Amino acid sequence: MRDRGIRETRVSVGNGLFVTFEGGEGAGKSTQIRLLADALRERGRTVLTTREPGGSPGAEAVRHVLLSGAAQEFGVRMEAILFAAARSDHVEEIIRPALLKGAVVICDRFMDSSRVYQGVTGNLELPFIEALERVAVNGVIPDCTIIFDLPASLGLERVRRRASAAEAPAGQEVELDRFEKEELETHEKRREAFLDIAAADPKRCHVVDASAAASDIAAAVLAIVEPLLPRSGGGGPDTEAAQ
Ligand code: TYD
Repeated sequence: MRDRGIRETRVSVGNGLFVTFEGGEGAGKSTQIRLLADALRERGRTVLTTREPGGSPGAEAVRHVLLSGAAQEFGVRMEAILFAAARSDHVEEIIRPALLKGAVVICDRFMDSSRVYQGVTGNLELPFIEALERVAVNGVIPDCTIIFDLPASLGLERVRRRASAAEAPAGQEVELDRFEKEELETHEKRREAFLDIAAADPKRCHVVDASAAASDIAAAVLAIVEPLLPRSGGGGPDTEAAQ
């Protein structure tokens, strides 16, 4: 499905840099966020790493409702509004204040996940998604979005392997979250939708091959972000948002 072209109104937020990581399941975003944060801290930058849904106490409370599947029976519209409510709290409580202090904010998923998961594969109409996005981000648009691209089958295999290694007691079924349980075809559609977003907004979005070696991906990500860094190192303590 083609990206349906959401219009963005960006406001300037302090001297910070807002970077988001997007992509399907099992793409290795968390590892790469850690590696990028370490590399930027080594360069003297103040870095805040955070995630969605969640990242602020209010949004973390909503996260459980969304990922457990508790909201699923009330429909995709309800889920989309809850993602937006969580995002609004996260933006105003955590992201905007950090950017105003000059930090580099790295967020695991943001508005593009809602465009793809609720908009494209949830079949919600564009004006609805657009309205929620406008209210939730309130002008705080990422300066840079890295899209981790991976065949869906490979991503899901990684998720299952990770879950079985980390969580499932011997002999028991692996517990996947509400979104991980969906069909392979849905995951492939999401991959295409992320690529469409990147094609429609090449200034903000950069696609990286998530099947490459972790060290190569880390180098590619740093090469994208480093030229965008503001001149000064930013103030305030180095921090990680509530998770
Ligand atoms: P999580 O375990 O945090 O994710 P990840 O896949 O990034 O390791 O789960 C977040 C799930 O929520 C993921 O399946 C994508 C979904 N999601 C949406 O459907 N819409 C959104 O706006 C966001 C932020 C996430």
